[in-house]
Amino acid sequence: MLFRSMFSVVSLLSSVSFYCFIASGQNTGSSFTARVSNATKIGLFDSDNISYLVNITVGGENFTVLLDTGSSDLWVDGRGRNITFTNTTSIAVNERYGVGLATGNLAFAGVQLGDFYVPSQAFVDASYTEDFAGTQGILGMAFDNAAIYKTVTAFWGKQAADELGGAFITNVFAQNKSLPNNFDFDLGRVTFEDPAGTSLFTIGDHAPGFENVTQAPKLPRVATDHWTLALDEMRINGNRFAFNKSIVSGAPAGKVLAVLDSGFSFPPLPTAAANAVYSKISGAVLYNTSVDMLNGWLIPCDFSPVNLSFILGGMEYPVHPLDLFMPFPVPIIDNGTERNVTVCASTYRALDLDPSAFNTFDLILGDAFLRSVYASFDYNDYTPTNNTGGSPFVQMLSTVDVSSTKAQLDAYVSALRAQYPPFIEPSVFVTKPLSPSLSGAPKKKAGAVRG
Ligand SMILES: *[C@@H]1O[C@H](CO)[C@@H](O)[C@H](O)[C@H]1NC(C)=O
Ligand SMILES: *[C@@H]1O[C@H](CO)[C@@H](O)[C@H](O)[C@H]1NC(C)=O
Ligand SMILES: *[C@@H]1O[C@H](CO)[C@@H](O)[C@H](O)[C@H]1NC(C)=O
Ligand SMILES: *[C@@H]1O[C@H](CO)[C@@H](O)[C@H](O)[C@H]1NC(C)=O
Ligand SMILES: *[C@@H]1O[C@H](CO)[C@@H](O)[C@H](O)[C@H]1NC(C)=O
Ligand SMILES: *[C@@H]1O[C@H](CO)[C@@H](O)[C@H](O)[C@H]1NC(C)=O
Ligand SMILES: *[C@@H]1O[C@H](CO)[C@@H](O)[C@H](O)[C@H]1NC(C)=O
Ligand SMILES: *[C@@H]1O[C@H](CO)[C@@H](O)[C@H](O)[C@H]1NC(C)=O
Ligand SMILES: *[C@@H]1O[C@H](CO)[C@@H](O)[C@H](O)[C@H]1NC(C)=O
Ligand SMILES: *[C@@H]1O[C@H](CO)[C@@H](O)[C@H](O)[C@H]1NC(C)=O
Ligand SMILES: *[C@@H]1O[C@H](CO)[C@@H](O)[C@H](O)[C@H]1NC(C)=O
Ligand SMILES: *[C@@H]1O[C@H](CO)[C@@H](O)[C@H](O)[C@H]1NC(C)=O
Repeated sequence: MLFRSMFSVVSLLSSVSFYCFIASGQNTGSSFTARVSNATKIGLFDSDNISYLVNITVGGENFTVLLDTGSSDLWVDGRGRNITFTNTTSIAVNERYGVGLATGNLAFAGVQLGDFYVPSQAFVDASYTEDFAGTQGILGMAFDNAAIYKTVTAFWGKQAADELGGAFITNVFAQNKSLPNNFDFDLGRVTFEDPAGTSLFTIGDHAPGFENVTQAPKLPRVATDHWTLALDEMRINGNRFAFNKSIVSGAPAGKVLAVLDSGFSFPPLPTAAANAVYSKISGAVLYNTSVDMLNGWLIPCDFSPVNLSFILGGMEYPVHPLDLFMPFPVPIIDNGTERNVTVCASTYRALDLDPSAFNTFDLILGDAFLRSVYASFDYNDYTPTNNTGGSPFVQMLSTVDVSSTKAQLDAYVSALRAQYPPFIEPSVFVTKPLSPSLSGAPKKKAGAVRG
């Protein structure tokens, strides 16, 4: 299931997340147990250089699922599997994401993640999926207010939903009051020296060396349905970018709202913001194509970086220049014959989610931002039995050593030049037809709302 083909360009796109929507049903009782775990025991890994996965066990069957702070529900692809259920229903639930769809019946089973076990976890036993080539499911890490919770509420009422419809992570915290209510991660960056990337993931604990994340500014969740934070500022080469007023009514004055979303590989920004970042890079070209990954800004692979940073809680979090682009080998038709070239696509994208469907935030800080921080997501006094209460917050430490980013970028680009097809200037690339082998691929838009 891992992407290894150099040309899985188009299918790579889909790791996005979001909201879902409903259906309904009935179910089972629960009693909980859990044990504390630590960073070294929950493997978090990167299968395709753009998505972060964990192994879980659902009703005795192993699944490798996307770790997604942008959604709340758990679904796994149960086709051909022998899941031992604690209960089943015939209630269909649709899990719809920024890109992708999973549909199946609401079901219950024991779920294990590292040392943590929830004896009867609500999940969607998916029998139909779209656009999820790289994962066998999604483990949502946000709040109890998505399709499963709404479905259980609709069929059995709020009390049943509070007892049975919680997210895996809130169940883990609910069943062990002495376990601190946080999960942390440090998303690894894939390089030629570290092809797997080194990622850390903890529950109820901080990873060794990052204990003082508790000293970082507490960034309160400012909207109930996601890990949504108020962004003080986006800074490009030291200059404050002037966002339009937030589309969210009630956003703090002068700030826009950002969702921290580990399931969104390429952070969508307002179009003017993405343009402001990449137009500062010499040789960058705006390219319009139906091939998702290449649609948007292309930059020379040996580019001189722009300094991009985000300021939250008064603290500046610089983005590592390695996270400003993603290289792709692409077959083009050059002078009548096919040849492979390497193009470097932008990772920060123009936001094109349907504003009528996604209107509770202004931008998404996905993996191309999250790789530059150690982030601790704290539910604080949030209780699953009161899904609008509590004051969850996030704390982050920068993991970027700005004095070494240039050398790290240079080393990566040298290895890229040595191992990938020849680089091509974006201005030349855009004049060449793509090989029909690429154009035949599916045409999906990054971040497009489906259905
Ligand atoms: C399973 O769900 C059904 C409704 O679908 C419910 O009547 C039954 O009590 C549940 N069984 C258990 C063991 O929770
Ligand atoms: C609950 O969490 C605490 C603190 O992390 C841990 O020491 C304890 O073993 C856990 N209890 C159970 C029942 O898992
Ligand atoms: C996690 O467990 C390993 C041994 O399994 C131990 O060496 C390490 O110190 C632990 N880390 C934390 C944060 O407790
Ligand atoms: C996750 O599961 C896959 C498939 O069983 C296995 O190859 C991989 O080593 C596992 N990774 C971790 C970190 O446990
Ligand atoms: C699930 O994974 C564990 C750990 O890798 C392995 O021991 C076990 O045999 C696997 N179970 C199944 C049903 O594949
Ligand atoms: C499914 O799992 C059950 C319980 O573990 C087992 O008894 C049964 O043999 C399994 N069936 C198949 C087809 O693997
Ligand atoms: C992931 O990145 C590594 C190092 O940059 C590269 O060798 C590998 O081909 C990439 N894999 C994919 C699927 O793009
Ligand atoms: C955490 O500790 C490191 C190393 O001592 C220090 O550089 C950093 O400023 C500290 N961060 C915070 C938020 O206190
Ligand atoms: C502000 O909104 C206008 C009108 O929609 C748009 O043209 C402009 O690009 C936006 N500017 C920014 C900074 O997003
Ligand atoms: C294109 O191909 C023709 C025939 O192979 C060759 O004569 C010509 O020099 C090539 N042009 C370029 C710009 O490479
Ligand atoms: C382009 O690269 C692919 C994958 O390595 C390879 O299969 C194909 O033959 C290459 N095309 C050319 C024209 O070299
Ligand atoms: C949630 O719980 C808090 C603390 O118990 C309470 O103040 C608040 O009113 C509750 N909110 C709802 C919507 O029940």
